Amino acid sequence: MMVFRRRCKKVQHGMHVREIAIFFLLIAIFVKIFRLVKCTVNLNEYVSICTGFKDVDIETRLRISSLDILPIDVTSEENLPNHGHFNIQRIIHQTWKNRTIPGSFQPWMRSFWKNHPDWEYRFWTDSASKNIIQETHSYLLPYFGNYSKPIFRADAIRYVLLYEFGGVYADIDMKSLRPLDSFIRKYSCFLGQEPHEHPMLDANFDGLACNAFMACKKGHPFMKQLIESLPSFYHFPNMLAATGPHFLTVNYRNYIAANPKLDSMSENGVYLTPPEYFFPTLDSFKFKLFHTVCKNLNSLSKLQQWACDSLNRRGYDRTPYAFSFTQHMYYHTYVKIDERRPVDILELIPAVILG
Ligand SMILES: *[C@@H]1O[C@H](CO)[C@@H](O)[C@H](O)[C@H]1NC(C)=O
Ligand SMILES: *[C@@H]1O[C@H](CO)[C@@H](O)[C@H](O)[C@H]1NC(C)=O
Repeated sequence: MMVFRRRCKKVQHGMHVREIAIFFLLIAIFVKIFRLVKCTVNLNEYVSICTGFKDVDIETRLRISSLDILPIDVTSEENLPNHGHFNIQRIIHQTWKNRTIPGSFQPWMRSFWKNHPDWEYRFWTDSASKNIIQETHSYLLPYFGNYSKPIFRADAIRYVLLYEFGGVYADIDMKSLRPLDSFIRKYSCFLGQEPHEHPMLDANFDGLACNAFMACKKGHPFMKQLIESLPSFYHFPNMLAATGPHFLTVNYRNYIAANPKLDSMSENGVYLTPPEYFFPTLDSFKFKLFHTVCKNLNSLSKLQQWACDSLNRRGYDRTPYAFSFTQHMYYHTYVKIDERRPVDILELIPAVILG
């Protein structure tokens, strides 16, 4: 009796081990097939995950990215010169309606001054902006004066400032993380780009240039094109299209299309920078929308599926990289402004040059 029972137990135990082994084997096969299908079906969008694309060196990846083939996640910095000539004037331009700066923006504005102690810091109020347009591009005044909201004027003036003086333009809700000197040694004109997920999930396209952060040498032909395009985009009621990021993106594409051989590093070139450099984090105002959109994955385009996958992989709440130059704090000044703890610009940045 005892012997039989023991043998029986042994057999049961053996079966158990075999079943577990088969179970794990099936899981392994299933995972393999799943990854194979996922990588084959969405090859274009999943190149970076499935083909080891991430291991390509940074210069190659940036070159591929600038060909508009697919969005990429930049994880290290390209080569930037430590010595030599500056292609862009070392001037920071910022604008606000008047000289009184609300509390929220003060540390971010000071961060630019702190990181660029030997640069000029120029500040432009609404009335100074109007004066400079009158002096330099008076044909714009009828449009400038007629824009329905101040944000249109705030958009338009930045192109004029970069064309007339050269330098770096930054919205006052941009935070400087480190000096820009190496960047303006390499490029003559460059544009910030919003995180890929923003335009993909908002409007199903990639490559949204953002005018919250741009830099160009004085008299650059791309800035000229932007200024001269303002009248023909004037009729758009939406600020994004009339003067803002969509206006900038459309003009960038037209400029590249008209000059297909232009190198982004040449003196008339324009470099659409990877989001990780100047816009490393996402706009938290959009989190709820993104979450809702990504729930119906099957109804989305491949580009949008890529964006949802990227949100899953990298998360919503991101921090800047060690190589990020700036961070956009997405304050949405046209929605609401906290006017508390105001300070005069002369007190905030004693070295300021008033426009
Ligand atoms: C600037 O504008 C704010 C709010 O619109 C106002 O409270 C403040 O007094 C203005 N400052 C100056 C110097 O005009
Ligand atoms: C600006 O507004 C005025 C008055 O409404 C109008 O006469 C003028 O044509 C407008 N200018 C432009 C460029 O639309």
